[in-house]
Amino acid sequence: MTAGPSPAGPPAAAPPPAGPPAGAPAARFTEDWFEYHTPAWRRFFDGVGWDAEAPHVAVEIGSFEGRSTIWILENLLRHPDSRIHCLDTFAGGVEHQADRIAGLYERFDANLRAHGVRDKAAVLRGPSFDGLVRLLGAGVEADFVYVDGSHQAPDVLADLVLGFRLLRPGGVMICDDYLWSMEEPDTHDLLNAPKIAIDAFANIHRRQIELPDGLLRWQFGLRRRAPEPG
Ligand SMILES: C[S@@+](CC[C@H](N)C(=O)[O-])C[C@H]1O[C@@H](n2cnc3c(N)ncnc32)[C@H](O)[C@@H]1O
Repeated sequence: MTAGPSPAGPPAAAPPPAGPPAGAPAARFTEDWFEYHTPAWRRFFDGVGWDAEAPHVAVEIGSFEGRSTIWILENLLRHPDSRIHCLDTFAGGVEHQADRIAGLYERFDANLRAHGVRDKAAVLRGPSFDGLVRLLGAGVEADFVYVDGSHQAPDVLADLVLGFRLLRPGGVMICDDYLWSMEEPDTHDLLNAPKIAIDAFANIHRRQIELPDGLLRWQFGLRRRAPEPG
């Protein structure tokens, strides 16, 4: 049983319960694309009334070394029954350097274990399209979807459309790198970036979404509206 964000819930910003288990090996990261978003995420989740102590289901498209996964688990998914589905090829995207990708899945797995949260993560290793279709076929309903996988516009569009289908009414979705570009501005290829896909998705779904405040402009966040009565 999962619950959607409740308007009356306590703030999402409570400190993590216990941190890494005693004696666990230290987590190992080569990148940090996430930490600077956390003040904005606290504002956003407080604003939508997210109750971190209630059971929730989250889906993360693009987990990399698990930095965002761990934060989500420790700060948003504190109930023992909460779960996150992590969809990742663990092969990197076109923008990643090959030397950062070697051993990526093993690093992700070890980092979650070091934080004592591995049991709450179900991993679907492979292209997000396949993983999302599997979750939809299994009838999974999500309270939160984080879209941070491939940054190629056609892939982002598919992730948003399928991820939105997983979202229960009242559930929230965040897409990273709204303003990111693989190239310098003067040679910018719109199709190598998420923005055109996010804009198209948001325009087409405008009657089904609302846009809560809180995030930095680098990310795009929405809440799925409840269907109109009748
Ligand atoms: C920017 S990283 C995710 C960063 C992570 N959310 C964080 O904040 O630490 C993008 C991830 O998406 C994965 N990825 C790229 N294309 C993918 C695809 N088509 N399907 C699934 N995962 C993909 C890569 O392997 C990489 O781990």
